[in-house]
Amino acid sequence: MKISRLATALGADITNVDLLTAADDTVDAVRAAAVEHSVVMVRDQKHLGLDGLEAFTRRLGTPIDTPFVKPMDDRPDVVQVVKEKGERALNFGGGWHTDLSYLMAPPSFTLLWAYDVPPYGGDTVWSNQTRAFETLSSGLQQCLLGLRAVHSAGRPYGTGGVYDITQKGRTMTILPSADAFAEQEHPVVSTHPDTARPILFLNSGYVTRFAGWAAHESQALLSQLYMHSQSEANTCRAHWTNGTLAIWDNRSTQHNAINDYPEFRRELFRTTVAGTPPVAYAG
Ligand code: SIN
Repeated sequence: MKISRLATALGADITNVDLLTAADDTVDAVRAAAVEHSVVMVRDQKHLGLDGLEAFTRRLGTPIDTPFVKPMDDRPDVVQVVKEKGERALNFGGGWHTDLSYLMAPPSFTLLWAYDVPPYGGDTVWSNQTRAFETLSSGLQQCLLGLRAVHSAGRPYGTGGVYDITQKGRTMTILPSADAFAEQEHPVVSTHPDTARPILFLNSGYVTRFAGWAAHESQALLSQLYMHSQSEANTCRAHWTNGTLAIWDNRSTQHNAINDYPEFRRELFRTTVAGTPPVAYAG
């Protein structure tokens, strides 16, 4: 197995491995690389198929479903992420977010297997939220350590939310719901369960405010922190090829699917692995 870094902040390509037949120690090494590099692009896995994707997901942990998105008919834990050529609706995963951070226990890993991707365009960008925290001033770090944030899926997935009002012409079936407005608090700085390092556990998709603060009071500081974590120095950008399996550490990253491929179809299949409730970083 060969691991080549994609950028200074995070990300690695993995080649020379077959995830369908991988021995346990190889699976452990891939998992460790996903934690160390925050996202790995495992190349040349076209032969996995959906059975192989599901089987490999189970080797990383317990698969969980994705609320508010219709899964595949015969595979409740798999979401078909697809945008057809010329489709004008807002793309799924467009805009910075951390998957399902509005749950009490957000996923540990997300897997995304590329089936039919554009020759250029349609890249995904990830941020390293540990590096984002560690590169803040010590004064701001101290101030953030005592804070909690409110997460909710309401803005994108609520009735009348972003995906609801942009349904027209979308191939994927999003299921807007009043339930999406439920709120979940998490520490702003969490502890990585494997490395014990701090994570700036905030994302633009689902965080609505700091707990105990009004939304308008929270906005300026949140915007400043997003600008910092999403800056070039804290991110990497990866290009997809058919058969690439991305595995990202959802606890320590945000990501954003870039919507710049109107002339191409883009189809990938996504699974998520159960995580644990974020625990505050003690400093
Ligand atoms: C997602 O956010 O799960 C989708 C990312 C992508 O399509 O690149």
